[in-house]
Amino acid sequence: MSQRSRAMAEVQLREGIYWVGVVDWGLRDFHGYSTPRGSTYNAYLVVDEKVALFDTVKAPFAAELLERISEILPPERIDYVVVNHVEMDHTGTLPEVMEVAKPEKLFCSPKGKENLLKHFHRDDWPYEGVKTGDRLSLGGRTVTFIETRMLHWPDSMFSYLMEDRLLISQDAFGQHWATSGRFDDEVDRGELMQQAAKYYANILLPYSNLVQKLLGDLGEVGLEPEIIAPDHGLIWRKDPGMILEAYGRWSQQRAKPKVVVVYDTMWHSTERMAQAIAEGLAREGVEYLVMDLKVSHRSDVVTELLEAKALLVGSPTFNNGMLPTVADFLHYLKGLRPRGKIGAAFGSYGWSGESVKLINAELEAMKVDLVDEGISVKFVPSGDDLKRCRELGQRVGRTVKETL
Ligand code: FEO
Repeated sequence: MSQRSRAMAEVQLREGIYWVGVVDWGLRDFHGYSTPRGSTYNAYLVVDEKVALFDTVKAPFAAELLERISEILPPERIDYVVVNHVEMDHTGTLPEVMEVAKPEKLFCSPKGKENLLKHFHRDDWPYEGVKTGDRLSLGGRTVTFIETRMLHWPDSMFSYLMEDRLLISQDAFGQHWATSGRFDDEVDRGELMQQAAKYYANILLPYSNLVQKLLGDLGEVGLEPEIIAPDHGLIWRKDPGMILEAYGRWSQQRAKPKVVVVYDTMWHSTERMAQAIAEGLAREGVEYLVMDLKVSHRSDVVTELLEAKALLVGSPTFNNGMLPTVADFLHYLKGLRPRGKIGAAFGSYGWSGESVKLINAELEAMKVDLVDEGISVKFVPSGDDLKRCRELGQRVGRTVKETL
């Protein structure tokens, strides 16, 4: 037994169902989403009359995946490989697995086959396209496949082990969080939900309508998983209802009386405006955060916005535009298609003063309901300017309380 396999004990979700993924302690960025605590790529091996591997892992970890499988049985014994999602963090090691295992079948959605061909250019693999409701017998167990198109790729699907009431949900219900524990009951619950919220806000938010529909569909077919096993992070075995309930709430984009003030600043004028706005919010007694984009990552701001009703964005005018950090944040946020927010812009300027207008245009493009034309201040805010900022904060605070 190698050093690596000795370091990690065998993990079973049920008798004969094993976690065979890897922990990526060093991951710090996932396409612009900060992952300061790493991630995991989960894969699951089901040993029945037939042996099935559900998903693989990211490319640099092929040896570790195969080694972990080897601790249970020789990888050559794998009969079926299931690809629930083609993105390379889950298929990067598929060529190595296919080479070693030479499975009878490779199950994926019809779009999955198309996308696998476009990734790996292997028309000799034994693809078997499956659609929602198709079943696969492993002997004592039956797998039902459920297509989840655009959650979050066209090829995405779930695999449900019916007798075990175990849902393998690929990215859905996941978190980018590397831990020694594999299950929800082995980690801090508050941190777990924060990581799950960050995952939802940064990956799944644009597809919230589809999440709503999917949750409804799962209920209609009476699918009530006892274990939800995502392809990232912790496995939900203690309270899968908690993450299902949270997805219901997040996908409705239901907000609470919470405001996020986000800004960057050159010589502290815009920062002083942000602080004055925050004073106004404090007077109204609403929850708020002030986030400086120099030190706050865009993906953390988006996470805080998930359940916030209002967004106030500040930037000084810089080269006839806004500061690059603010432009970056607005660009990122627009792609995530938040809905139901109210907002306003603020910022200082020296001579041309375009920033507030430009931020307003970006917010309107995101269907943010502007509660004010925005506050522009030449150079350094006066006492009157700061009073206007406090009043804006109070107005937003009152509006947030009234609309919720
Ligand atoms: Fe974890 Fe969409 O890949």
